[in-house]
Amino acid sequence: MQFETVVKTRQSCRNFDGARPVEREKLKAIVDLARNAPSACNSQPYAVAVVAEEELVKSVAKATQGMGMNKHCSDARAFFVINEEPAGLLAKTGGRLKDQDFASVDIGILCAHIALAATDCGLSTCIIGWFDEKRLKELLNIDEKKRVRLVIAAGYAAAGDPLREKKRKEKEKFATYF
Ligand SMILES: Cc1cc2nc3c(=O)[nH]c(=O)nc-3n(C[C@H](O)[C@H](O)[C@H](O)COP(=O)(O)O)c2cc1C
Repeated sequence: MQFETVVKTRQSCRNFDGARPVEREKLKAIVDLARNAPSACNSQPYAVAVVAEEELVKSVAKATQGMGMNKHCSDARAFFVINEEPAGLLAKTGGRLKDQDFASVDIGILCAHIALAATDCGLSTCIIGWFDEKRLKELLNIDEKKRVRLVIAAGYAAAGDPLREKKRKEKEKFATYF
């Protein structure tokens, strides 16, 4: 796909085809591509858990559904769970000196790479910020001291799921040109 097409067709999918499994090779290809994402001081303060095993997928879906949220995750066929890892000393020190949370920025960039790479493979995704972190740590054997920062639901969109018009800030408010 052309980059422009990838960007314009990526959208948060809330209508996955629950009957269509996702090929593990595609998940691996997505992760391998996303590994090229940039990060502050190349610190890469993250690790990705790729969940495709059916029962575990169901359990992860449930962990995103507290208070009636994220019902669409029931039909996702895979999840990428993004954990924060300790940043390198340089990135940590730089972040402190400049009062910036580079790890969160890096994780956001990684997630964008995953979502766009998935789109390029014909998959759909939904980045999920609403999840039961404790439950995910139990399910995926993640050290309780670590943070789960984002989850990305993935699958094939149901047939006929329309491409929505993007609602975004007006261009004038979005960018200033000097
Ligand atoms: C950090 C983050 C957390 C999000 N959490 C959720 C979520 O829990 N559930 C959901 O359905 N969408 C979630 N979204 C998707 C956003 O609602 C969506 O990206 C936004 O409305 C723009 O729509 P689009 O992705 O279709 O272009 C999240 C997106 C981001 C970046």
